[in-house]
Order: sequence, then C-alpha cells, then structure tokens
Amino acid sequence: MSLTDALQALVGPAHVLIDPELRAPYETDWTGRFGSPAALVVRPGSTEEVASVLAACRAHGARVVPQGGNTGLVGASVPRAGEVVLSLTRLTGLSPVDPATAQVEAGAGVTLGALQAHAREAGFDAGLDFAARDTATLGGIAATNAGGLVAVRHGTARARIAGLEAVLGDGTILRRLSGLLKDNAGYDLPALLVGSEGTLGVITRVRWRLVARHRARIAALVPLDSIDAAAELLGALRTRVPSLEAVEFFLPEGLKLVCDHLRIDPPVRDAAVYVVTEAASNADPTEELADVLPDDALVADDTASRERLWRLRESHTEAIAAAGIPHKMDVGVPLPRLGEFLQRVPAVIEAVAPGARTILFGHLGDGNVHVNVLDLPSDEDAADEAVLRLVADLGGTISAEHGVGTVKARWLSLVRGQDEIAAMWAIKLALDPEELLNPGVMLPAR
Ligand code: FAD
Ligand code: MLT
Ligand code: ZN
Repeated sequence: MSLTDALQALVGPAHVLIDPELRAPYETDWTGRFGSPAALVVRPGSTEEVASVLAACRAHGARVVPQGGNTGLVGASVPRAGEVVLSLTRLTGLSPVDPATAQVEAGAGVTLGALQAHAREAGFDAGLDFAARDTATLGGIAATNAGGLVAVRHGTARARIAGLEAVLGDGTILRRLSGLLKDNAGYDLPALLVGSEGTLGVITRVRWRLVARHRARIAALVPLDSIDAAAELLGALRTRVPSLEAVEFFLPEGLKLVCDHLRIDPPVRDAAVYVVTEAASNADPTEELADVLPDDALVADDTASRERLWRLRESHTEAIAAAGIPHKMDVGVPLPRLGEFLQRVPAVIEAVAPGARTILFGHLGDGNVHVNVLDLPSDEDAADEAVLRLVADLGGTISAEHGVGTVKARWLSLVRGQDEIAAMWAIKLALDPEELLNPGVMLPAR
C-alpha cells in the first residue's frame, strides 16, 4: 500500500492533502523566505492518529516536518526536501481550568489566543504573549520555547509547561501530564522536548501553568535620547516597579516603517530609542510606574489606548515583511553589552552588505534583539554570519527565542562546544535513530 493510501485509511481522505493548491499554505513559511513542495500534508485528529501516522511514515521511510501555526521564523516548519508535513492544528481540545493548581490541559493545536481567552474567563492569564497569538499553537510554542512580550515577568514557555504528551518517530506515546509541582522521578523528558524544534518528538498535548490575572494594567511609550538612557530606565523599572510586566524597545527606523505601514503619525517626539513598558497589578500600578517615567512619556491606562501603543511595537514584524523578505536574526546579548551590540551591528552589516537596510527592535528586558536585514538576496548570508559572530564575541546567543531552525544550524558551534553538540546528537539519535523528525533542523551535519 502506498503511504498516501495508508494515511488516508488512518485519518480519512479529507485530512491527507495532495492537491498542490491545498498543500501550498503548509509549504511556505510566514516570511516567504523558506519552503518547498511537501510529499503530502497529513492532519491527524488525535494523539493515537499522530502515533499511527508516524508509524506509517516510518514504515515507508518518509521524513516528517511537524507543523503548528506555521508562524516560525527560522525555516523549520516547512519542507526542505519533499518531507511529509504533519499538521497538528486539529488537536484543539481544551480542558476546564483547574483553579487549585492553576493549570489547564490543551491540545497541541490550540492557539495562544484561544488559551488566553479560556484562562481569562476563569480569572487567570496565560503568562505568555506575542503578536502571532491568534495563529501560533501551543505545540509550536512548546517546541520553540517561545519567549515574547511578558517573559521579563513570567519567563519563556518552559516556565509555563507543567507537563506534556509527545509521540516519538516510531509511534511511541510518552505521556507526563500529572502537573505535579514536585516530581523528581527520573529524567525530565517534557523539559527535554521543550525547545527541541520538532527534532525529538511530536508534541500532542501540553499541561499549561497559568498565572493570576491582574485587574489593573498601564502601559507607556517612552522616547529616550540614548541606549544608555534606556538601560538606566530598565534598571529603575526593575528596582522600583514590582508589577513590571514588559520592557520592549524599537528604534527610529522601525517606528517610521511601522507608521508608514499603518498610515499613522508617531504619537511621541523624535528620539534615539523608544521603550514600551507595561505594569500590571491588582492595585492600581499608575503611581509606581509614573514615578520612574520621564515627563514626555506617553501613558496609556485604558484598553484601547494600550492596544494603540502596543501596535507600534507589535507591528514591526508585519511592517518589515511588507517591505520585503528579511533576513531575521533573533539574538540575545548580555545586558551590560547590549549598548555596544546595538552600536556596532549596523556597521558590521554595512561592511559585508553595503546598502542593506537594518531594523533593530526587541525585548529590552531580556537582552533579546531582533536584527532584521532587508534588501539582501535570500541565499546571501554574509550579513547573518557577521551578526552571529559579533553576538558570540559578546558572550550572547544566536537564538534567544525563535530557535536555531535550518537557517542557523551551521552556526550552532559559535555558541555551543563540540562536546555539547555531540551530546545533543546522542540525544537525537537515542530518540529518533532513523532521523525521521525534522531533518536539518537545529543540529549541524555530523
Ligand atoms: P510552527 O511555525 O508551525 O513550528 C515552529 C517549530 O516548532 C518547527 O520546528 C516545527 O517543526 C515545530 N513544531 C510545531 N508544532 C509542533 C509540535 N506539535 N510538536 C513538535 N514540534 C512542533 N516567537 C517568540 O518566541 N516570541 C515572539 O515575540 C514572537 N513573535 C512573533 C510575531 C509574529 C508576527 C510572528 C509571525 C512570529 C513570532 N514569533 C515569536 C515566532 C513564532 O510565532 C513562534 O516561534 C511560535 O512558537 C511558533 O508556533 P507555531 O505553532 O506557529 O509553530
Ligand atoms: C517579536 O518580538 O515581535 C518577534 O519575535 C517577531 C520578530 O522577530 O519579527
Ligand atoms: Zn520576539
């Protein structure tokens, strides 16, 4: 029996996509930079179906790319060489919130936005947020250990995942969903799968640790005259605003691109750097925040004005994509070196890619900078390499939140030693000996 016939028998013909038009949205990534035709797209509807699909793929020697919302930005969610795309978007079950543990169980295909709405109805919050909330899935979020806008307070996805269920490449189901706060019985396999970028197993379900929902929330957009001033503000926010929830930044080139894209005027004076910050608490955090802000900060204390303000930061990705296909480098730099990095990076790029446009923005509180370079050919990677080498020289990381993917796998050795990479390969081969899951992602060729 052909693989197509076997999969159709397992999940139903409607969920095996062969027609090129139906496959197309699964074959190209969000940026339009990565992707190629899939052998087929299969959309199982349960964990058991995922297990039997993987067993059938293995029996046919077919390699598999797990895919959630396909909002990933490192070329890891789409086929490279005729793989099968395994879409998890039908796994949308969501259990009632358990208030005693503040946990909820969700299928891998539940979007972050759906989890947030569900949690809020029960008086909680997801403790994770970013602009792709309505498309990105919890499976993809777990697989990439996503960060986002509130990591400065609540940590990355890893801190939110109390357990998970996953299927290995041979169809074995691993289930650790008890949600126990204390459980030291053996290796922490769920923790290993978080951030594994679809290379070790297919995540089918997660047990999510919620956070308390705060009644009062206030945001501010702060124009500042230097990166040093932004670093000083960050220090003041951390020490004097216990309800601090987010500290983000962008620069004038990014603000102009966003304002042109949204057809709006900038709401604050010209500045060298713009910080967006938010505080959330049950008591009104206004005074606490206002106390550390300069007079020309724009404060937003109702939902509509907060959303308007956040749009300036969140629309960077979309405005950049509208301007071209960017090279996106998601890097982390130790905070004491952040000013130096931001100062040096435009010249480092100009030296190898004269005339390219560089847009810098990101998560200030996490030392996480999104370096976006426009007007570069897709396969010309001198600028990528120059930026990643600078990051490594400054003691940073080549992936702060998006993952290594296919695009940065060859540079993993800039920040991980050969012994560490060998240990990662040993783990990969122990769990996926036939290298069926997401080949070419994360690990450099052996
Ligand atoms: P996909 O893109 O489908 O897949 C991403 C990776 O996870 C791939 O390697 C894939 O193989 C693997 N994968 C997906 N599902 C599973 C599964 N069930 N089991 C095993 N592996 C799986 N990311 C951040 O961290 N912070 C941000 O602030 C942020 N903002 C963004 C804003 C925009 C506008 C966009 C477009 C993207 C943003 N991202 C951000 C990147 C992206 O949204 C995240 O990486 C997200 O976690 C991907 O989820 P997804 O469901 O779309 O996964
Ligand atoms: C963000 O913080 O907005 C994202 O991670 C997306 C991006 O890097 O474009
Ligand atoms: Zn980000």
